[in-house]
Amino acid sequence: MKLPNIKILDERHKLLREVSKPVEFPLSKEEQQDIKDMITYLTMSQIDETREKYDLRAGMGLAYVQIGKLKRIFVIVEELEDHTFKNYVVINPQIISESQEMVYVGEGEGCLSINREVEGIVPRHARIRVKAYNEYGEEYVIRVREDIAVAFQHEIDHLNGILFPDRIDKNNPYKNINNMREI
Ligand code: NI
Repeated sequence: MKLPNIKILDERHKLLREVSKPVEFPLSKEEQQDIKDMITYLTMSQIDETREKYDLRAGMGLAYVQIGKLKRIFVIVEELEDHTFKNYVVINPQIISESQEMVYVGEGEGCLSINREVEGIVPRHARIRVKAYNEYGEEYVIRVREDIAVAFQHEIDHLNGILFPDRIDKNNPYKNINNMREI
């Protein structure tokens, strides 16, 4: 695998604060290639050998705005138990429903655009249902839970100019921790 030539914006970049625009189909060649590149990048960041070789930070999700393009696209790469990878290509997502139950990632959320330690917990719905389109313009509905649900909510936030530290109460970074389940 060859490391794609993509540059991930740091949180100080203003573009990360903008709302991304809806995508029109069919996708352009550039958009198709960028989606492939983002998936390859995340996959390589999760494989020990390539992560070390290219000095990458491990990442599960990436929104298009993080490589500087303001369109409502994100990808998630999930390593399965058998060490294969499952890819999610999510375009123009809409959350249809959310569980009442809230969770937070115990070790803290991470983001390839945030290169510092952030203290506190990010409240997320344990399960959500999302309507979206794939790279071929086909509509689908997906129900996600636990860490994938958190990843979806994190990436949808990116499409709206929101970064995960925004969701942490500055004065009380562990607010409501007892009302949520740790994952
Ligand atoms: Ni992020």
